[in-house]
Amino acid sequence: MPNDRDREIPESVTISFELNGKLVGLQVNAAETALSVLRDRLGLKGPKEGCGIGECGACTVLVDGLAVDACLLFAPQLDGRTVETVEGLADRETLNPLQQAFLSHDAVQCGYCTPGMLMSAKALLQGEAAPGRKAIVEALSGNLCRCTGYLQIIEAVEAAAAQECTGRDAKE
Ligand code: FES
Ligand code: FES
Repeated sequence: MPNDRDREIPESVTISFELNGKLVGLQVNAAETALSVLRDRLGLKGPKEGCGIGECGACTVLVDGLAVDACLLFAPQLDGRTVETVEGLADRETLNPLQQAFLSHDAVQCGYCTPGMLMSAKALLQGEAAPGRKAIVEALSGNLCRCTGYLQIIEAVEAAAAQECTGRDAKE
């Protein structure tokens, strides 16, 4: 009688998922990472490969609204999910408030960490309208920046949160 060890693991699988609001479908190697699919197969260069082992956060994307390290995810795990990358943040020509705040607070230098920082911050602001500094620091704790120091980044997230809150209040 065949047991689990005899079962063949398929080398490639077909997956489909929503990427920045559009449905995509493609065949992936079962051992491919989500990061390589996004960058090399789908041409989204926002998520970066830094460490490749889940320590730097440069590859952070949102999967079903949660910030995850795309380098640690196998491509088949994207199947049926909703995936957001930094490319989906701006509304055509209009920057997202987080992007705008990063610019106005000089929170970007080389920019390598920026897409991941923005996505971690987005996940935070989606779940918490008015996070305090402690919550912001915690949410960004998995994202490393070699350039700016973290103060400008934290202040940018605070400013974006304040702006989003004001926008929400104005609509209510
Ligand atoms: S590249 Fe994924 S956490 Fe560093
Ligand atoms: S701006 Fe260069 S690593 Fe953060």
